[in-house]
Amino acid sequence: MDAKMDIKAPRGVRDILPDESWKWAYVLDAVAKTMADFGHSEIHLPIFEQTELFSRGVGDTTDIVEKEMYTFVDRGDRSITLRPEATAGMVRAAIEHGLCEQNASAKLWCWGPMFRYERPQKGRYRQFFQIDAESLGLAGPVADVEIIALSAEIFRRLGLKNLEVVLNSVGCPNCRPLYRQKLIDHFSARKGELCETCLGRLERNPLRLLDCKKPECGAIADAAPPIYESLCEECAAHFEEVKAGLTRLNFSYKTDKRLVRGLDYYTKTAYEILSGDLGAQNAVCGGGRYDNLSESVGGPHLPGVGFAAGIDRIVLVMEQQGSAFGKRPGAEIYVAAQDDSGRCPEARSAAQVLTHSLRMAGIAAEQDAGDSLKGARAFKAQMKSASGSGAGWLCVLGPSELAQGAVTVKNLQSGEQFSIALQDALQGRGPWGRRPCSRQAE
Ligand code: HAM
Repeated sequence: MDAKMDIKAPRGVRDILPDESWKWAYVLDAVAKTMADFGHSEIHLPIFEQTELFSRGVGDTTDIVEKEMYTFVDRGDRSITLRPEATAGMVRAAIEHGLCEQNASAKLWCWGPMFRYERPQKGRYRQFFQIDAESLGLAGPVADVEIIALSAEIFRRLGLKNLEVVLNSVGCPNCRPLYRQKLIDHFSARKGELCETCLGRLERNPLRLLDCKKPECGAIADAAPPIYESLCEECAAHFEEVKAGLTRLNFSYKTDKRLVRGLDYYTKTAYEILSGDLGAQNAVCGGGRYDNLSESVGGPHLPGVGFAAGIDRIVLVMEQQGSAFGKRPGAEIYVAAQDDSGRCPEARSAAQVLTHSLRMAGIAAEQDAGDSLKGARAFKAQMKSASGSGAGWLCVLGPSELAQGAVTVKNLQSGEQFSIALQDALQGRGPWGRRPCSRQAE
């Protein structure tokens, strides 16, 4: 089947093929275990929401809302948006289902596709996947430290190297207006040197001026007053306690006065985890506190803190660093039928039954499903598939085996050969030993 099709996956969107998908399963297994260890329960959220949730939650002067959302009007005339991130949906779900009523808190996590109309490049896609953890109803700095520690622990368990935790505080509605004004004064004085994007931000979102990657604007941003001098007492104390907590837990981190995140809902803590092996799109993880997000989407006061990490980027870094992904799932036993050039069709039937029995015993088995009514292809072709299958063992069923009620078993690595009772093999017993029924045997 060599013919190509004109229809391709849309730009910026990719298929995660079997060569990569098993690595995702490995990452997600480690993520699920770590989330459970830190007390986060999994939640499944819709991938589309009312547009307002994002325009009000993420902020209508952010790049995401201004130019990156996949928004459409559905057949019921409602404005719908494919989620560009999960935090707003998480808060919406917690409020809608009363998960944080009567001062209760909820520690949740989810994973799945997010959608942003960004310029595709290495590590940046229009459909990408995030793992996302949120602690809702928790206002104290211990929750911030737990979230940062959780993200770092996931990466530690996955063996990611060359990472850096970068931390900042972005203040709150009490202290930010003062800082905002300081930034406006600072940047306005050098207005003529600013790029087009920064000029726009000066009007609409001055905090983001600190984020410009262009060297000329960056130099002006470097000289801007740091937010620390403007933080109110509460934000300053919160920031100190987050730093002290990280130090207590032996985390190394760097503070960066220019770290402001691309989403408007942050208050107090903002952080990112950067990889030295990703090029321009170097953030594997970003997060922070958002104590007013709930109110901005019409909900009650509900403080929260969380993070999201890109699965595509995690796998990319792990591949680049030559990390282990466990064992790729695949056939352990290949079952071949030697049907004596069609004179022994029973061999094919027995191979079909043995393959299924092995699978029922929790052993990954493969057979040649064949390309005709007869079933398996010629024995030589089956041998070729067996050696390409990655299986460790070969079971052969032919006229002489059937006459003796036996199976010939070959260790494909050592070449050693055995004859075992067919009855035993049908129970899953053999020199390969019993394997537990698991998705991914270690
Ligand atoms: P974010 O920084 O926009 O934060 O995204 C978090 C992570 O998602 C990034 O660090 C990156 O690994 C991955 N990511 C983002 N955009 C793309 C893309 N186009 N292609 C591939 N990967 C991407 C948020 O989304 C916040 N909701 C995080 C958060 C949770 N804050 C509080 N709670």
